[in-house]
Formats: sequence, structure tokens, C-alpha cells
Amino acid sequence: MLDASSDEGRQAATRFRAEGRLNALEAGQIMIPGLVDLHVHAPQWPQLGLRLDLPLEQWLQRYTFPLEARYADPAFAADVYPVLVDALLAQGTTTAVYYATIHVEASVLLAQTCLTKGQRALVGRVAMDHPGECPDWYRDASAEAGVADTRRFIEAVQALPGAETGLVRPAITPRFIPACTDALLEGLGRLAAETGCHVQTHVSESDWEHDHVLARCGASDAAALDAAGLLTRRSVLAHGVFLNGSDLDLLAARGAGVAHCPLSNVYFSDAVLPVRKVFAHGVNIGLGTDISGGANASMLNSARHAVIASRVLESGVDAEVPRAARRREGARITVAEAFWLATAGGGVVLDTAIGLFKPGYAFDALVIDPSRDLTAAPHAAPDELLEKLIYLGAPSNIASVWVAGRRVSGPG
Ligand code: GUN
Ligand code: FE
Repeated sequence: MLDASSDEGRQAATRFRAEGRLNALEAGQIMIPGLVDLHVHAPQWPQLGLRLDLPLEQWLQRYTFPLEARYADPAFAADVYPVLVDALLAQGTTTAVYYATIHVEASVLLAQTCLTKGQRALVGRVAMDHPGECPDWYRDASAEAGVADTRRFIEAVQALPGAETGLVRPAITPRFIPACTDALLEGLGRLAAETGCHVQTHVSESDWEHDHVLARCGASDAAALDAAGLLTRRSVLAHGVFLNGSDLDLLAARGAGVAHCPLSNVYFSDAVLPVRKVFAHGVNIGLGTDISGGANASMLNSARHAVIASRVLESGVDAEVPRAARRREGARITVAEAFWLATAGGGVVLDTAIGLFKPGYAFDALVIDPSRDLTAAPHAAPDELLEKLIYLGAPSNIASVWVAGRRVSGPG
């Protein structure tokens, strides 16, 4: 990127104008870095805004595994995935980190869809083989089969025309420890070391999940993932609400990052992630929507929810508990911090130069039109506009969306 106020920048602008390829902001518009959603379950798109009445372990069995099993039919995937990617781009998600399903063909189709539509993405074919936690009709036949299909998926994505740019990359995706045998986790850890691919999974999400892993492995999620070789500087760990201090130190030492999904945590996590504690341990962190555990696709909303959740953690929630016992002093995060998490923080977690307007960074950007809807504010200063955008912004405020210098959403 060039500095528009430098001589070089002005000369480039003059040249681009003469060539008819200068895109100027309209009066009042602002440009912000694209939003990075670190945690999306793509196959759950049809379920967004539905069925949040059960705890995680029952929700998976009753609703979510049956829905995901339908992607054995590539035609079903072909109906859903293009709609999802268009919807996320229009809401400003320039980078998405996707879980697909166990099906290689449908998962490759998701990666292909992201490439065609120009969304930066990590896509994971989900691995899950544990007969105790996964139904017979939706699981890998064995640990070996889970590793082999993951390898086949990685090779197929890397072979897609256009994948050589790195815009869309495969991720190794053990669903979460309860759904995976030790042999599968270890096999995927070896594959991560061999390929250097990103890794994504869920970590210490809820009381049930955290306790289940402690009972089975005799160790926390973080320690068990590390033992399998799954904590790397390219690991994205969803939730992490129950990570303790030593777990966080382990993540920091490995360079692994957390995907904070504040809305989903309300339904499935039994508690609020203490973001400040994650910061204090030096752990990389960004934000996710956790579609469909989080019933909202917008990363502006995720940033808003992160601020609200931190305020609720600070104040406590039960008025019958005395104030001092209810409060967690200093837990709040600011709007600016939430915006950072939704952009630059996500880039750091992904070990990718995105989320900032800076030389050497990809041009992933949103043109924001504050004059639409509630953000309209005569005389608002730029930092006030940003604050209003986080609290009041709607998809209609996003006038156009750019990924890697290509316009991917919005009128010409
Ligand atoms: N843990 C394992 N699978 C899932 C999932 O689909 N959503 C959430 N929120 N947590 C999970
Ligand atoms: Fe999730």
C-alpha cells in the first residue's frame, strides 16, 4: 500500500485516475480492514438462528450431526455453500476459518466456492472417529481412515486452480477431543508436522467438554492436544473458556491462538471467556461467530458481543450475589480492542499478514457508508464513527468489500 499524502502516492493516484482505475471513497465514507471470522461451521448455515435449546453434547447428537450428515450428498453442499459465502462476504467477512464435514467431496466444494467468490479462507474437512461420541452414520470408519481422508482433502484443495496464491488453504480439523480417539489425534498431529498446515479444533468449551477430557485423558484439552502435536503457531482453538493459567502459558509457548465466540458461549459454554486473562498470558486471540452455535453471522456483531460479554463478566449477573463476590474487576474490553480482535488479532492468530492497512499486508478492506441507517452522524470524528459502527453497524453500512485487491461484494 502507498501513502496517499506522499509524492509517490499522489503520482500513483494521478496515473490511476488517467487510466480510469482509481477508486475514490465518496464523501463521508470510510475504509476499514476486512473482518476475520476465526470460527464458522459452514454446514450449519441452514441451522443459523434455530435450535439453541439444548446443551452442547445433546445439541450435537440431536440436531447437528444429522444436519452435517446430509453433506454426503454433494448436491446439498452445492445448494448451501455458495449462499453462505456470499452472505458472509456481504457482511464484511473477508477471511473465514471454516469447518466443513467429514465428506471430502463436499469439503473440497466449499474450498472451491471460496476461491471462485474470492473469499480468503481456511477450510477443514472434519475428522471424528470416536464410536462413543459419534453416531455410526456420521464418523470416520477408523483413525487411519480419518487421517487418510484428511490427507486426500489437503492434496485436493492444494491442487485447485488458484490455490497456489494461498488465498484458500486446507486446515487439519479434529472436531474436538471427545469426538476423536487418541490414535486419530496423534495421526493428525503427525500430519500437521509433515504438511505445516493450519490446525483447528475446539478447546475447553464447556463444563461438560472440559470435564470429559480430564476424565478420559487425565489432562486438560490444551495438554492433551499438545501431547498429540496439535498445538502449533498455526493452531486456531475455538472458545477456551475453561483454559487455566498453565494451559494459557502452554498456548503462548506454542504460539497457538484462541477464537473467542462470545455469543455462542452464552448457549454452550456455561461461562464467559476472560479475554483480559488471555491477553495477560500473551496468547494470540481473535473473534469468531461459531455459526450456528452463535446465532449471528456478522463479525461486527461478534465484536459488539465481545464488549458486552466482558462488561457482564465484570459486573456479574446474579443480583442476589453480593456485589463484591459478583464482580470480576477489570474484565472489560474496549470497543477499540474488540475491533482489533475482529481484524488484526485474527491475522495474528492465523500467522498471516491481514487485518491492518500496512505495507506488506494484503489489501482486504471494507468501504463503510455511515450515512445509511443508524450510524449516520453529522460531525462525528473518525474514532466516533468506528465506535458507532461496532455498536450500531448493520450489513447495509457495508458498501463494498475487497479481498486481495479484488472487489468481491458491492456495486462497481
Ligand atoms: N464442539 C464440537 N463440535 C462443535 C460444534 O459444532 N459447535 C460448537 N459450538 N462446539 C462444538
Ligand atoms: Fe464451534
